[in-house]
Amino acid sequence: MSVKNLNFTHNGLSGEIHIPGDKSISHRSIMFGSIAKGKTVVKNFLAGEDCLSTIACFRKLGVKIEHEDQTVIIHGEGIDALKEPEEVLDVGNSGTTIRLIMGILSGRPFHSVLIGDSSIGKRPMTRVVGPLKEMGAKIEGRQSGEFTPLSVTGGELESITYTLPVASAQVKSAIILAGLQAKGTTKIIEPEKTRDHTERMIHAFSGNVSNDNGTISVEGGQSFTATNLIVPGDISSAAFFLAAGAIVPNSKIVLKNVGLNPTRTGIIDVLKEMGAKMTIEPYESNGHEEPAGDIFIETSELKGVTIDGDKIPRLIDEIPIIALLSTQATGKTIIKDAQELKVKETNRIDTVVNELKKLGANIEATDDGMIIEGQTSLSGGTVESYGDHRIGMMLSIASLISDGDIELYQPDAIAVSYPSFFDHIDHLLVK
Ligand code: S3P
Repeated sequence: MSVKNLNFTHNGLSGEIHIPGDKSISHRSIMFGSIAKGKTVVKNFLAGEDCLSTIACFRKLGVKIEHEDQTVIIHGEGIDALKEPEEVLDVGNSGTTIRLIMGILSGRPFHSVLIGDSSIGKRPMTRVVGPLKEMGAKIEGRQSGEFTPLSVTGGELESITYTLPVASAQVKSAIILAGLQAKGTTKIIEPEKTRDHTERMIHAFSGNVSNDNGTISVEGGQSFTATNLIVPGDISSAAFFLAAGAIVPNSKIVLKNVGLNPTRTGIIDVLKEMGAKMTIEPYESNGHEEPAGDIFIETSELKGVTIDGDKIPRLIDEIPIIALLSTQATGKTIIKDAQELKVKETNRIDTVVNELKKLGANIEATDDGMIIEGQTSLSGGTVESYGDHRIGMMLSIASLISDGDIELYQPDAIAVSYPSFFDHIDHLLVK
């Protein structure tokens, strides 16, 4: 197993970094570019492993996709041109790829097999498989379709009205993608608002979807027109450096081109509530459907907060780094209503709590979250990402404030969403 010794010597963080493209939006750009007609050019694409898995899957479905660095060109020929793949579709570590692609495949009159890595093999799929089967898709898999490997035989679909039992943009998006191919109007009732990148992307590709007070409606039989997209930086990647800027002594940094979609900015609200010294300069217009801007942040005195309810979906991926932030805040931070953490790339309640405890944090797991008592100084130690990119990055940021060196097992996982992560740390260090 690979291991990285994290022993950055520094005198704070300074300077600016350009945040790499948003993972959720990059996935969707490939998917919609593939089902649209014409040439879609995507700039600032996130060339992380997850999004590369999406490209590989759509190539196997017969789509011509050119990719160089942060630019992707998709030669779409419409959804009817997708072909039965001759090989298994491997989604790697990517939950977004497998769940969303099932929505597309459900309406395609052919057979596909989906697999992923060992983490994907533990993640629940019934939440997507259930409604897609209700619409008419034939999906089978291990444990009655709960786990990969999964096989999908698509065909004619009926529209449904479906209330999401979990606040999940992946489930919502899979049903939308199937609904676009179904007879009639599919309605999805969303009890808590989740990220709306799929809906925005439908508009960008000249399609229609509406949201009336939490009921999302999509008409079947739509076709899409290719477009050009510029992906904003991923706020979930920026979050690691927002935290670093706030907790590393003598720091003052600028994060450029951060996506500011309000369904994703829970981390900004939390940082403000904790007392972070931060300013945001939104861009006026950047030629695409997603808002973005620059964020300035500096070393701050933080206080504990309570995070629960409908705040959770707006920051679900940021909870590992919020846990680290909370170890440096005075008082108690309570995170609740976050059971979904248990079914992410790892069980993030367990992995966050176990690894931060090893560094001396005062943190306890609860059934639906965690409680952190601050402020504690962190020690060095041997920790592990468990193959989870966000756990790896959180522990790497911890090493910037730890008293001793941190040995991180499985650091490679970070390439799933942020291949230039260590270069960016290096760039910001004041040596
Ligand atoms: C994602 C949605 C979220 C998030 C994941 C990406 C997406 O998952 O945790 O990293 O791109 O739709 P859920 O929708 O399952 O909560």
